[in-house]
Amino acid sequence: MNADRLIIKNFRNIKEAVLEPCRGINIIYGENAQGKTNLLEAIWLFSGFKSFRGSKDRDLIKFGEDFFNLDLDFYGSGREQKARIITSAGQKKILLNSVPVTALSKLVGKFNCVVFSPSYLSVVKGNPGERRRFADTALCQIKPKYAKVLIDYNKIIMQRNSFLKNLKNKREDEEFLEIWDIKLAKKAAFIINQRLKYLNFLKESIYGIYSGLSGERESLEIFYNLRISPNKYKVLSEEIEEEELLSLIRNFRTSDILTGNTNIGAHRDDIGININGISAKSYGSQGQQRSAALALKLGEAEIIKNFTDEKPVILLDDVMSELDVNRQNYILNHIKDWQVFITCCEPSTVLRLFEGKTFNIKDGRIVN
Ligand SMILES: Nc1ncnc2c1ncn2[C@@H]1O[C@H](COP(=O)(O)OP(=O)(O)OP(=O)(O)O)[C@@H](O)[C@H]1O
Ligand SMILES: [Mg+2]
Repeated sequence: MNADRLIIKNFRNIKEAVLEPCRGINIIYGENAQGKTNLLEAIWLFSGFKSFRGSKDRDLIKFGEDFFNLDLDFYGSGREQKARIITSAGQKKILLNSVPVTALSKLVGKFNCVVFSPSYLSVVKGNPGERRRFADTALCQIKPKYAKVLIDYNKIIMQRNSFLKNLKNKREDEEFLEIWDIKLAKKAAFIINQRLKYLNFLKESIYGIYSGLSGERESLEIFYNLRISPNKYKVLSEEIEEEELLSLIRNFRTSDILTGNTNIGAHRDDIGININGISAKSYGSQGQQRSAALALKLGEAEIIKNFTDEKPVILLDDVMSELDVNRQNYILNHIKDWQVFITCCEPSTVLRLFEGKTFNIKDGRIVN
């Protein structure tokens, strides 16, 4: 997978820009607040996912303008392709190879990329939802069926919750809850087992990456935490049966009805991340947390490569400045054969080790 040409109009602080990257290391450098992350964000949108900064569409349009336009020529699935995203207030038009597609999410899997940005540290430091999102996003890129089941699952949760609220108010018959529970257990088992499988793949690459990053001094461990009661998790080491999940869900019917919420299921699980045997979230140093998050991302890229037979594009926002020289060297060595976009203030941090194409960005313009 390669991004070969990006044309930007009215995106964030970038009025107009044309980026023609190389298929190796691309270094986007400049002072603070010039538009480096904005450039990565523009590339990222072609992955089919929302902005990695969690911004809304209208925030992406340059102040004072009423639309933005992004065009990407890329090489993927063995051919040259073109994608276009046009967003104006409240409206979005997306074209893939000149054919309109109905939603941004339809681009998922067409242009694969993996992004690491400082906000992504929340995968280690944040709440369980951040870690579930990590696994879900990664799985959606490699398994289209997963995305469909996830949408169905979220609908079932919403419908079951409204059924629970009606039950509490005696507007429904409790015996019909069983129907919802069976549906829920079926989809939840699929999601949980896919996530578990994914973590097993991930372990194969990230344990080595983390150990390399830490100069063989530390070890990383990840595991699936199944929620078995509203305040208790169990480490899941092998696939869960639908029946087992169904009985867990049944056990919490009373509290579900009381709260009007579904308290057990794939939407309540977590992923445990330990460094040297203790929780990275509770005890990890900043550097350890950063390294763990980075290892997860590089592992994600590795898995996409194995599943699709193509290396995804790697976007690294402001990653070098946070790492000591050994860790910087390890990262650069690890990614040197991928197409990478790295933002930094000073290009020499990268150029001292590898050749790369440089882009100096100033006030939203690429000046060289
Ligand atoms: N919709 C928008 N329209 C115009 N400018 C915007 C918009 N959204 C963000 N900006 C501006 O874009 C500028 C550059 O942002 P960006 O995050 O890309 O900087 P950066 O070069 O990555 O800086 P840093 O090194 O600090 O990370 C910011 O000053 C911000 O105010
Ligand atoms: Mg930035």
